[in-house]
Amino acid sequence: MIQRQKGCNDIYGMEAKVWKYVDQVIDALMEKYNYNYIRTPIFEASELFHRGVGETTDIVTKESYDFVDKGGRNITLRPEGTAGVVRSFIENKMYGDPNQPVKVYYNGTMYRYERPQSGRDRELTQFGMEVLGSDDPLCDVEVISLAFNLYKMLGLKEIKVNINSLGDNESRKAYREALVKYFKPHINDLCEDCKERLEKNPLRILDCKVDQDNKLLKNAPKVLDYLNEDSMARFKKVQEYLDILQINYEVNPNIVRGLDYYNHTVFEIEAKVEGFGANNVLGGGGRYNGLVSQLGGPETPCVGFASGIGRLVKALELEKVKLPIIDSVDLFLMYVNEEEKKYALYLAQELRMAGFIVETEYTGRSLKAQFKQADRLKAKFTCVLNSEDLNNNEVKIKNNKTKEEDIISLDVLLYYLDEQLGTDSDMNDDCGDDCCCEDGCECDCHDGEKCSCHHEEE
Ligand code: HAM
Repeated sequence: MIQRQKGCNDIYGMEAKVWKYVDQVIDALMEKYNYNYIRTPIFEASELFHRGVGETTDIVTKESYDFVDKGGRNITLRPEGTAGVVRSFIENKMYGDPNQPVKVYYNGTMYRYERPQSGRDRELTQFGMEVLGSDDPLCDVEVISLAFNLYKMLGLKEIKVNINSLGDNESRKAYREALVKYFKPHINDLCEDCKERLEKNPLRILDCKVDQDNKLLKNAPKVLDYLNEDSMARFKKVQEYLDILQINYEVNPNIVRGLDYYNHTVFEIEAKVEGFGANNVLGGGGRYNGLVSQLGGPETPCVGFASGIGRLVKALELEKVKLPIIDSVDLFLMYVNEEEKKYALYLAQELRMAGFIVETEYTGRSLKAQFKQADRLKAKFTCVLNSEDLNNNEVKIKNNKTKEEDIISLDVLLYYLDEQLGTDSDMNDDCGDDCCCEDGCECDCHDGEKCSCHHEEE
């Protein structure tokens, strides 16, 4: 049997429904913040990631999926979304659009040849957002708060934002020198890669996966001590704005991020969920004011963020968050003979086009087995089509919960279902058992805790 590749996943069944729901919430929230959807290619010229993400990053040196295509071009499957968005921003001259900053979001597969483990896949799905064309700390905070609010909206309870600043070029240079001075006498205590990093990019030593438990790293100089006045003032502004939004954050000087393009604000957002394990970072991002010019565009300050959907879905599952996912059908149409089957075919289409979720029989089951199938699909109504009723322009329809049966004229079937399914809150029990909503309540809550009606308090 051919099996899926290591670090790749098949997403199906209920898990796929959760993914789709998460995608819908992302789309809806991005719309509210006025971010436009962008799709960039899954593969790009390798040079984009070498120059963009950084020659000394793990993502480029160890984890990239590179190949030479039939035309002899060096190609890389994208390991992340930012570099592609920046290339597109430059190539499509988005910097010339009077509507600045450009705010975009994406949601797609990325590839990293990592050692597969829980929370670390080789094929991963990330959604992310980028704001290109503003240096205002307001944008840093908008991005952080958007991500924070998304996780909260989805129902995760304990979300923590870790923030840090890598400062401007001057601060980064001073910090680089301090790191070289600190690590040089201990070079033999570092792994082989870090020995090389010391020369090329000492900041990368701090997020080395091999040396991560090395005491030397823990006691290394902290970047915040090397920020110049402007960079520190900027960082304070970010914190002031975060306070206004009451975001739960902590200044964590150990956050340096694994990609080279960052300066000023960097951050990671983690979920405190029991059983989540070591890879509990849901997403991360930061400011990258130099990347557009480095890739051949005009000087453009930018900030962005990305989150792994796989990790997010896992956090929701571990925290047993009840999501308003439809896993039932409105009506199951049953039939026995060919004439009834043809009517089922016709009626199913009519009702589906009118907006109902309708299922019918496809495998020649007996009527008894069709009832069982309707139960498996949690059908709210069942209808056994029979020739006699159809000749009278009627159908018998049964409420599967109350077991009550009605004989309905086909002319009013749509209205009947609309009324039964639309307003009967007993039928629409998405809110869960502990919801305080009463019959006829029109609030669109989906979880007792989040219900905005508060009937119990009234
Ligand atoms: P990143 O920290 O490399 O940042 O990845 C962001 C998120 O993607 C991680 O926090 C994690 O949730 C998910 N992720 C990364 N690698 C894996 C993996 N192997 N398996 C599962 N999930 C993974 C970036 O990619 C930057 N482009 C973020 C950014 C956007 N910075 C500015 N703009």
